[in-house]
Amino acid sequence: MKIIVNPLELKKYLKENNKTIGFVPTMGALHDGHITLIKEARKANQLVVVSIFVNPTQFLKGEDLDKYPKKDEADKQICEMSGVDVLFFPNANNIYTEDEVSLVAPSIRGYVLEGNSRPGHFNGVLTVVMKLLNIVTPTNAYFGKKDAQQLNLIKLMVKQLFMSVNIIAIDTVRDSDGLAMSSRNIYLSKNERAEALKISSSLYEASKLISNSILKVETIKDGMKKILNPLEIEYIEILNREFEYLDSVEIGNTIILVEAKVGKTRLLDNIWL
Ligand code: PAF
Repeated sequence: MKIIVNPLELKKYLKENNKTIGFVPTMGALHDGHITLIKEARKANQLVVVSIFVNPTQFLKGEDLDKYPKKDEADKQICEMSGVDVLFFPNANNIYTEDEVSLVAPSIRGYVLEGNSRPGHFNGVLTVVMKLLNIVTPTNAYFGKKDAQQLNLIKLMVKQLFMSVNIIAIDTVRDSDGLAMSSRNIYLSKNERAEALKISSSLYEASKLISNSILKVETIKDGMKKILNPLEIEYIEILNREFEYLDSVEIGNTIILVEAKVGKTRLLDNIWL
């Protein structure tokens, strides 16, 4: 596996190779969710590129940028063992300069849900994803469905800016007890981790209600709130795949999203129905 820090060096290397490229952008602290993305990329592309970059512009003031988990050596080994060809490991100076051009997330879809809890977060996400896609110029780029709003906005960016990469959405990977995998799970104490299971349980409750033909959004949200109690709920939303609000669940076109705080940690989860 080649490790490259400099964007221009990476561009040159990839151009010389002239192969189909599967790209997995990450912020490191890799877990089974990331490994699943890498495996999918491995199946469908000649070259697999993973980036590890904790992007400062997507963190708001007072968020966990400085204590975001770092596991550089373990991450390198995971990439090597998962068959990654190139690990792109830039630092902030390789990616950002001064007085930067940046992207602005759409004024509605970028400022609801996660964008409402973290105003401006998606400007940073879209800007760095655009930079990374321009550096790597992948055939296919892989993103987890767990960050459903991020995925939706990246797809929108690719469509609206006429970019030619295919965005591939991959199912959420869960621990055996149902907790969705996230690099931030590391922040949870033993008790908090047990409490965090209420998040996936609330989504199972929603799918149980729906399989009993209860389709009204407000009724399902009420059922979920009971399970989530006493967690601090940032939002529960039931939307269609275009992220538009629904009154009733449309099977095959619905995402149910939850964000709740467990201790100081905000956790996201969702199911696609
Ligand atoms: O989902 C993530 O890990 C990040 O938001 C991403 C897409 C790598 C951009 O920094």
